[in-house]
Amino acid sequence: MTQPIALVTGASRGLGREVARRLAKAGWTVLAGARNPAAMAPLPGVEVLPLDVADLASIRAAAATVQSRHGHLDVLVNNAGIMLDRMGDVLGLDTELLDRTLATNTHGPLRMAQAFAPLMAKGGRIVNVSSGGGQLSVPSTWSPAYCISKTALNAVTVQLAEALKARGIAVNAVCPGWVRTDLGGPEAPRSLQQGADSILWLVLQADPNLSGGFWRDGAALPW
Ligand SMILES: NC(=O)c1ccc[n+]([C@@H]2O[C@H](COP(=O)([O-])OP(=O)(O)OC[C@H]3O[C@@H](n4cnc5c(N)ncnc54)[C@H](OP(=O)(O)O)[C@@H]3O)[C@@H](O)[C@H]2O)c1
Repeated sequence: MTQPIALVTGASRGLGREVARRLAKAGWTVLAGARNPAAMAPLPGVEVLPLDVADLASIRAAAATVQSRHGHLDVLVNNAGIMLDRMGDVLGLDTELLDRTLATNTHGPLRMAQAFAPLMAKGGRIVNVSSGGGQLSVPSTWSPAYCISKTALNAVTVQLAEALKARGIAVNAVCPGWVRTDLGGPEAPRSLQQGADSILWLVLQADPNLSGGFWRDGAALPW
């Protein structure tokens, strides 16, 4: 029997690497997207795929590689993300920094879905790694570029879920919680394992008919 195939973006370190490692351990065929494969520490059992999600040509080249090597994809985990404004105030926000943040955190997942949805069949899943910072119902006052990019990613998630409903492809957003990674920092209360669990629930456990939602630890989050 062929194993399911998952592509995890931003798998060089942090949550993406942990999700890729766990899926490979579970027997999945895992494509670990990395924008700089040469700098990535070895991750046994995964196939490293050069992929910069802020670069449309790189996305298209990766989709062509997956098409020719595997012919299809079951799960796309849009995990790659950046937080360029560590704190800051929206009134002083540099919109050039906002553009760069949106290119990776929002346009990246959208372009990935556009490129890879054609390789996915009924039962496929797209998991967008978002953040509680993107919630409109809980206004954030920190890292405005990052939070705005995740709010927009949530909107992209709802749009994609509607667009792919007829093809039976589920699209959801997930918050891993505040996790100790390079992005989350050492003060974060959650371990890598806890954060990855929240993401993996959507890959491995969620009802395949659940689509267009925002989740943390398997429970719905308000937008
Ligand atoms: N940690 C938290 O507390 C937390 C909370 C909520 C949501 N999240 C989300 O979880 C996801 C993973 O975050 P993390 O905490 O694991 O961050 P991290 O440790 O900083 O890792 C970020 C990953 O994204 C990759 N990346 C960045 N820009 C990329 C690009 N243009 N193309 C491809 N890969 C790119 C990085 O690759 P390089 O090694 O090449 O830089 C790295 O592999 C992000 O979407 C983040 O917003 C994290």
